[in-house]
Amino acid sequence: MEPKKDIDWSKLGFGYTATEYRWQATWEDGKWTEDGLVEDPKLHLYESACVFQYSQSCFEGLKAYRTKEGKIVTFRPDMNAERMYNSAQRLEMPPLPKELFLKSIDEVVRANAQWVPPYGTGCSLYIRPFMIGSGPQIGVAPAPSYLYRVFVMPVGAYFKGAVKPLKLCVSDFDRAAPHGTGDIKAGLNYAMSLHPTMEAHRNGYAENLYLDPQTRTYVEETGGANILFVDQDNTLVVPKSNSILPSITRRSLVYVGEHYLGLKVVERQVRFDEIKNFKECCLCGTAAVLAPVGLIHTHEGDIMIPSGMDKMGEVCTKLRTTLTGIQDGAIEAPKGWIREI
Ligand code: PLP
Ligand code: COI
Repeated sequence: MEPKKDIDWSKLGFGYTATEYRWQATWEDGKWTEDGLVEDPKLHLYESACVFQYSQSCFEGLKAYRTKEGKIVTFRPDMNAERMYNSAQRLEMPPLPKELFLKSIDEVVRANAQWVPPYGTGCSLYIRPFMIGSGPQIGVAPAPSYLYRVFVMPVGAYFKGAVKPLKLCVSDFDRAAPHGTGDIKAGLNYAMSLHPTMEAHRNGYAENLYLDPQTRTYVEETGGANILFVDQDNTLVVPKSNSILPSITRRSLVYVGEHYLGLKVVERQVRFDEIKNFKECCLCGTAAVLAPVGLIHTHEGDIMIPSGMDKMGEVCTKLRTTLTGIQDGAIEAPKGWIREI
């Protein structure tokens, strides 16, 4: 199906649009039942639903792209299926079988095909699967029933300016507790980041950089993206931590760096005081894609990343171009990364 004609793709940001269809399944009495495609964007729920009282919710984020040949494809949806499975288990929710997750993505994208932006616009269809404890629950316990739903919306850049370097601010707050829920995509992680995020925005920063909650010595990630560095000899330095989200974009970039660009990649704990030695820095994620960082603010002063505030660094540019080329079909993808709808 051809893309919609009445959207100015060059003006599209990252926001909600209710498209025609969403896909739903419900869990009750020990089993998932498919409702399939539904049209109502609103939900009718108990006031005592576990999601409202105790935040029992998890979600995912992935994208569909239109290729030059006009095919519609999704990028590594099996990885999102797996991560959502893990998130659900950690929150005592019934994990959605991975096959059902993949089917839901295929069907919701196919039904909303006209909303997949044209090739070459830099826009894509953002896909938001989520699961909530929908049954009534007032004692602190998992819900007796669950709702899984996926909706989609066309999006442009998550950060204004797309590839303009961002200013980050080291947060006084923590994003996740040691041995907490930082490594799953739980709604509660984002609720607690709202205040620090708004504080960062009020102070003129695009995002917070969180440090490890135990020692505040190591770099973790930002509120909605992992962080990467490039050192003086072009090695890609990837912070490792048990309390960050295992980003699918980051894991893909590690592969792209090693196998497409011939970069040396090191995944290790990164001390915050090492940042001054790096020459490039970027954020990565489904929504963020790959966004350069030019400055990191701390109470002790600003750290200027040598690639500067005007443009993206050379290595980050190559990583971004190669990844987006793979995603929209312009560059051959590793086996199993692209799923044709
Ligand atoms: N870290 C956080 C906290 C996120 O919310 C996201 C977004 O999904 C990411 C990292 C990036 O993960 P992915 O590349 O799988 O989208
Ligand atoms: C994503 O990149 O899919 C996310 O969920 C991040 C969110 C901040 C929009």
